[in-house]
Amino acid sequence: MVTPAMTDKIKIEGFSLQYQDGTETLRNVNLSIEKNAITVLFGPAGGGKSSLLRSINRLNDPEDIKQIDGHIFLDSEDILSPKVDLINLRRKIGMVFARPVVLPLTIRKNITYGLEVMGEHNKARLDDAVERSLRQAALWEEINHRLDDPAVALSGGQQQRLCIARTLALEPDVIMLDEPTSGLDPISTGKVENSLQELKKQYTIILVPHSVQQAARTADNAAFFLQGELIEFSRGKGIFTAPTVKKTEDYVTGRFG
Ligand SMILES: Nc1ncnc2c1ncn2[C@@H]1O[C@H](COP(=O)(O)OP(=O)(O)O)[C@@H](O)[C@H]1O
Ligand SMILES: [Mg+2]
Repeated sequence: MVTPAMTDKIKIEGFSLQYQDGTETLRNVNLSIEKNAITVLFGPAGGGKSSLLRSINRLNDPEDIKQIDGHIFLDSEDILSPKVDLINLRRKIGMVFARPVVLPLTIRKNITYGLEVMGEHNKARLDDAVERSLRQAALWEEINHRLDDPAVALSGGQQQRLCIARTLALEPDVIMLDEPTSGLDPISTGKVENSLQELKKQYTIILVPHSVQQAARTADNAAFFLQGELIEFSRGKGIFTAPTVKKTEDYVTGRFG
């Protein structure tokens, strides 16, 4: 068991997930996600990392799922409860995916769209949200002179930062990013990693990195997943320098992967 700390934003307790085919994609996962920190979930493909993120955001299609056990608490609310308001939950927990999916609209509209859907039409407040979220996503300096250009004209790295900005505009508490830089060049990747270091001051971040190197660079805390099990967790970067479980060591030293 992970010792829960007062500063934890999310607590996952005894969480198991089976898809319809019956294999246990996640088995008895216990994990605490610290507030204002970057918690990295890493490990080889198929380990269940994306399934866990989707569970936290309730994005799994209920029809795909055979059984779920355990609890996932956001603050003190069990987000697996049928009573949870999914729109509200997804507003509190924003998600960024591997491939940036920008809307076929202007840069500005990509950011204001979600706010407008929620009923915000005040121009000054929308403009403020655009500037604030683009600054937070480290994109403002590059594109503030062309906010009314189509978003699809941006580079891949800029589009991904725009997706991060769009998530930030809704002022979530938690941001989850599932391999957000897997399609980006090293310079754009560095910009995204740098902006995460700034963002954690204000948000709780869960990152599935695209490599062990990225995991080690970005992690405040890290959890190693293998075939549905949380093998090892460390507060701090200890898991990369002094793993205590042989399987973790084999993975972080590149013996398999
Ligand atoms: N909707 C689904 N239905 C059935 N099996 C799934 C579904 N989504 C993922 N899986 C399976 O669950 C396992 C874990 O996948 P995933 O959560 O994507 O792991 P990771 O993100 O660590 O690569 C894989 O074996 C995958 O094939
Ligand atoms: Mg995945």
